[in-house]
Amino acid sequence: MSYQELWEQDKNHVLHPWMDFSVFNEQGCDIMVKGDGVYVEDAEGNRYIDGMGGLWCVNVGFNDARMKKAIVDQLDQLCYFSPFTNLTTPPAAKLAAKLAEIAPADINHVFFSTGGSLANESAVRIVHLYFNNLGMPGKRKIISRYNSYHGSGFLASALTGTTFNHAGWHLPENMVEYISEANVYRPPVEGMDEEEHCNYLVKEFEEKIISLGQDNTAAFIAEPVVGAGGVLVAPQGYHRRMKEVCEKYDVLYISDEVVTAFGRLGHFFVSEEMFNVTPDIICAAKGISSGYLPLGATLINDKIYDVISKPQIEGGLFTQGFTYSGHPVCSAAALKNIEIIEEDNLLEHVRDAGKYFEKKVKELERLPIVGNVRGSHFMIGLEQVADKKTKELFPAKLQIGKMIAKAAQKRGLIVRPIGHLCVLSPALILTKEQINTLVSILEESLLEVTTKVNVHVK
Ligand SMILES: Cc1ncc(COP(=O)(O)O)c(C=O)c1O
Repeated sequence: MSYQELWEQDKNHVLHPWMDFSVFNEQGCDIMVKGDGVYVEDAEGNRYIDGMGGLWCVNVGFNDARMKKAIVDQLDQLCYFSPFTNLTTPPAAKLAAKLAEIAPADINHVFFSTGGSLANESAVRIVHLYFNNLGMPGKRKIISRYNSYHGSGFLASALTGTTFNHAGWHLPENMVEYISEANVYRPPVEGMDEEEHCNYLVKEFEEKIISLGQDNTAAFIAEPVVGAGGVLVAPQGYHRRMKEVCEKYDVLYISDEVVTAFGRLGHFFVSEEMFNVTPDIICAAKGISSGYLPLGATLINDKIYDVISKPQIEGGLFTQGFTYSGHPVCSAAALKNIEIIEEDNLLEHVRDAGKYFEKKVKELERLPIVGNVRGSHFMIGLEQVADKKTKELFPAKLQIGKMIAKAAQKRGLIVRPIGHLCVLSPALILTKEQINTLVSILEESLLEVTTKVNVHVK
């Protein structure tokens, strides 16, 4: 089939996530056909460093022979069997035990699904069941944050606090409440230092619980470092203090580690190891199987398990579950993925190379349109501004992020444009040499775009 035919088929029949229909009919899609290590190749034979790591997920890199073998070996054994009621498969059991081993403290039980949205939705359902079983059915509201991203199921899209995602759709009513994002670059009052900012956010959270009522508030959900909502690293101590507020009001803490877990920041899980918080629930997906196969996991602590593992009513069942919960082939892929991360010392590599990556990209703040470089390790965002002093953004219609992504693609690098941001989340095997190449391509691309948008730069 020719490139043109494929392009047409896709354009005529695929409904793409987050498609911009103002340009789709004319532009269609780029077609990716191959991946190897940190590189991908498109249908026209162009090779790129994949600065997106698929979509924050191809952690061990493309085309890893060990991953492929583990998947085929499991297919040889058993391609699928039901996970419902009292049936299981060896990979699901082994993976749950391994996750319990690497997860913080008393997080020992795993509910499997097929991705991040369902991991988060399952977390909320489990929270509701927990409080219902405790005789507190009023405790059902979830507090999320503006500009968070938690997925796009009916409930997950409501947990997501990027309000432009809500426009034109219906959301479950009276379920999710929002508080401010923790954006150090754009604090609520310009000039606020990190400590004042943190105090402001913690106070706002506490006031929110008080206004909703402790008896109505079930859980707080937060990403340790926000991903798609702007790559935001919260002020120092923020997560710990938010957890303290949760404990004060008997509100559960759900840590959405869909992006941050499995090595992106140099740890299997970061909530406790980097942010000194032991969540009640951790949600994982993406890097859990490095994107080789779809998998989501909702990890819960003993306290919750003890309550929800008792029938709510005579003969009551735990009625949450999917055909593909604990899919044996996906679980085998995840087990091998974790083994590779351990065997290849990828966590140590990210802790070292990730710091170098942060430093190198941060140097791009010297360029006139780069207002802020932020993030952590292999999760970095660059925010473009027209005026560095006032942090004024470029006109939205200019699509500055897309302009940079296009300029980079021309030079052999894929970056992810999100509004006025460019996001980098490469495979964890990226070497320092490859980091240098990536950063120099990005610099050239930013300079090219700067000359194009010079009329706006102040
Ligand atoms: C932090 C976070 N949570 C949840 C999700 C949703 O995951 P999925 O797209 O696998 O449903 C994403 C996806 O990007 C994410 O970044």
